[in-house]
Amino acid sequence: RIFDNPVLGSHYAAQEIARLILEKQAQQLPCVLGLATGSTPISLYKELVRLHREEGLSFHNVITFNLDEYYPLPKAAIQSYYSFMYRHLFSHVDIDPLNIHIPDGSLPKEAVKQYCQQYEQWIEQAGGIDLQVLGIGNNGHIGFNEPGSSIFSKTRLVTLDNSTRMANARDFQNISQVPRLAVTMGISTILKAKRVLLLAWGNKAPVVARSVEGHVTEQVPASILQQHNDCTFIVDTLAAAEL
Ligand code: GLP
Repeated sequence: RIFDNPVLGSHYAAQEIARLILEKQAQQLPCVLGLATGSTPISLYKELVRLHREEGLSFHNVITFNLDEYYPLPKAAIQSYYSFMYRHLFSHVDIDPLNIHIPDGSLPKEAVKQYCQQYEQWIEQAGGIDLQVLGIGNNGHIGFNEPGSSIFSKTRLVTLDNSTRMANARDFQNISQVPRLAVTMGISTILKAKRVLLLAWGNKAPVVARSVEGHVTEQVPASILQQHNDCTFIVDTLAAAEL
């Protein structure tokens, strides 16, 4: 779906999410959301906060699972995705903190493998992800699944591409401060979500075209979403320019 600008695209995504939350509330069921970070979903979270404040949208039945986190990085670091999520969404809505799951980037290395398995189990115990929000990296990554990530991959510790570290250096003092590793949900974890909304604005046109119209290949992780049966790319006119 192509929108004139990111605000309109974000409003559409927020409406879809609000509708799902309300539908689940009417059925007295939890609504399980998979959430993303990066600059792209900021306007979506802003609209969800507005819907909460001005239109009374409650998050009391919402359970969230974030896609990824840098490793190693303390939760309290301003660059952590933990901090990001509280800053842009969780501190401003009535979600139960016990329902929030964000991969922990502060564990000792020997504990990470078991923690990743646990993260997959938490998702399953919650009933699976009803709706997954995604951004996209210029190299086609989703979450921190860099090119070459297996279609069967699950939550795990990964090495970041240099291009990703360069793109994300804006949040750190310099590139050497950007962690080299991250904990991310896998491609198979993402594919299991019942519905996927991928958001892309501005200069993402080449990778949007490769993901939507190119071959399905692990070299462009987002292209694998072509195999999902309920995935929508929500883009602005700039990001749609090469379709
Ligand atoms: C990061 C995140 C991704 C995100 C991507 C794009 O690397 N791990 O989930 O989609 O950046 O970021 P931005 O939205 O700032 O372009």
